[in-house]
Amino acid sequence: MNEIKIAPSILAWDLGDLEGAVQISVRGGADQVHLDVIDGHFAPNITFGPGTVKALRGRCDLKFDTHLMIDSPHLYVDKFLEAGSDLLTFHAEVLNGSKFDELYRVVHAKGKEVGLAIKPKTDLPRWASDRLDRISTLVVMTVNPGFSGQSMDLSVMPKLRKISALVEDRGLLTDIEVDGGVEPENVQEVVKSGGNVLVAGAGVYGKKDPVKAISVLRERARRVRDAQ
Ligand code: DX5
Ligand code: ZN
Repeated sequence: MNEIKIAPSILAWDLGDLEGAVQISVRGGADQVHLDVIDGHFAPNITFGPGTVKALRGRCDLKFDTHLMIDSPHLYVDKFLEAGSDLLTFHAEVLNGSKFDELYRVVHAKGKEVGLAIKPKTDLPRWASDRLDRISTLVVMTVNPGFSGQSMDLSVMPKLRKISALVEDRGLLTDIEVDGGVEPENVQEVVKSGGNVLVAGAGVYGKKDPVKAISVLRERARRVRDAQ
């Protein structure tokens, strides 16, 4: 079973102070920073691009978990690699097996990791389960992509359990990241269903003490894991 990891999503912080957001993650002992890139086409919001990722890269050493909610990832994959992303997550909804293979080649050639995300109503496609050994992180979204601060769609839990059983059956070490509405109150449900990487926007940056919120999530998740 993979370790519990906390990935704060900086989208939930003051967007004029992204460096501050990253520093909170560092101080809180986060495992990785989750960077939500949205192009206004794939999802109804526009956030930031490779230039911002690059600027932040110069300011911290944490693993950069870049979640690309964009229609044409092949046009930007090189830019995000150059900017310093460590894990590049693409959405299954805009790919097929051969498009994935092409992106995998580009990312793998740079020694970086590939993630695959699915929206709440998307099932893991057959082409993706056939390529599971090349995916370091499966991102199961529990809100519709676009905005931080939405509440978690708990109807995704059966799919999460199915995916985590699939990963276990295959004997893989794929991280299973849960993205959307993670809060201390639903950590139990998420971890019991097989999630081990917790993305948290409002669940960290919306709290009075965001630095402490990171360890609150981690401790809760570990407690659930230890009781299993
Ligand atoms: C939604 C993003 C999420 C989001 C998480 O489009 O992919 O990463 O910012 O924020 P919370 O935890 O507030 O739902
Ligand atoms: Zn995200």
